[in-house]
Amino acid sequence: MSGLEALLAEEITSCGGENIKLLHRAVSFESDLETLYKINLWSRTALRVIKPFLEFKAHNETVYYKRLRRYDWTEVFDLDQTFRINSSVHSDVYTHSQYLALKTKDAIVDQFRLEYDERRPSIDLENPDFVFDVHCNGIDFTISIDSSGTSLHRRGYRQSMRRAPLNETLAAGMVMLSGWDKKSPLLDPMCGSGTILTEAYLIAKNLAPRLERPQFAFMNWANYDGDLWQKVKDEAYNQINDDPVQLYGCDIDHEQIDETLDLISSLKMDKEIKIEVKDFFEEEAIAPEGMIIMNPPYGLRIEEDDIMGFYKQIGDAFKKRYQGWTAWVLSGNKDAMKKLGLRTSKKLTLYNGSIESKYHKYEMYGGTRKTKQIDQE
Ligand SMILES: C[S@@+](CC[C@H](N)C(=O)[O-])C[C@H]1O[C@@H](n2cnc3c(N)ncnc32)[C@H](O)[C@@H]1O
Repeated sequence: MSGLEALLAEEITSCGGENIKLLHRAVSFESDLETLYKINLWSRTALRVIKPFLEFKAHNETVYYKRLRRYDWTEVFDLDQTFRINSSVHSDVYTHSQYLALKTKDAIVDQFRLEYDERRPSIDLENPDFVFDVHCNGIDFTISIDSSGTSLHRRGYRQSMRRAPLNETLAAGMVMLSGWDKKSPLLDPMCGSGTILTEAYLIAKNLAPRLERPQFAFMNWANYDGDLWQKVKDEAYNQINDDPVQLYGCDIDHEQIDETLDLISSLKMDKEIKIEVKDFFEEEAIAPEGMIIMNPPYGLRIEEDDIMGFYKQIGDAFKKRYQGWTAWVLSGNKDAMKKLGLRTSKKLTLYNGSIESKYHKYEMYGGTRKTKQIDQE
């Protein structure tokens, strides 16, 4: 997830990873099995953890196929297990990632056929036992095995939602980057499905985000150590804290709030996440100080003229009713962000899916601090 690499590196360090390097939209590291399990359980910002096991150069497809055939795939998985190939290509020689995936599949299947009298493992695109990842950069190939399976942004807490919500890894990253102290009130005034608040709850309680997820791809590996996995999970259960947390959300969409309320009550978070149907522009601040983290609409559904006015209204609400608060706003609409009319105290760039978004911090100083600022100017 672009923009969250440094956070991910910190998470990997705290799980025991070594030799950590920041890459583009990825972080590389070295670890033992225990750390691999911990990252899969604990990381709030990773989408998947892959383990490279084969690196080589191939000048053309024939060499590529032969190189893969030399590897003993029958040692990696069994005839009755399913698999899928993911591929990403940055190359002048190889231009079609799908074709490379097909060649990879052929090499694996042909080897099984030879070994097992024409029998072969099946492809499963939806829910395979093994996912192999082919990365091609020019003529350099790295073949990896995916240890996570279903993408790690799926915490297992969310069913289908009416609207496309924020990705959980991005919401968690926003909370982690904000510097929220986990004690002060945290408000998402346009909370939609409540992703920011739910992730903030998990962070504040030190709850590993995938404690309840039953399946990970590493469980299909020949070296899967069930006792070690149980130990990693037991340690995580022991680290949950019961510190009180103040989380507030509102949204004007009744139906969305009904769904969100159902979700947080099913997760037993409803005692500490207070959510209401409200128009933010009519809401009074719930406390003299606190933090706002939000992603307002970008303007895809609102007319261009209105979106500028909408962001101006947000800025006015901050200035009038949220003095003493700090606000972090994520938006893919840079021009509209300017209409907030507030001085930015920190500027970050994050990606919401493929949309480059700005994540800006605003400090609405109350009373004395405000006077001082004006005096100095
Ligand atoms: C981009 S979505 C937020 C998505 C949310 N972060 C999530 O993960 O589901 C923006 C939300 O702002 C809400 N909204 C728009 N105008 C509002 C207003 N005046 N007061 C409160 N909420 C508003 C919309 O109903 C929508 O749910």
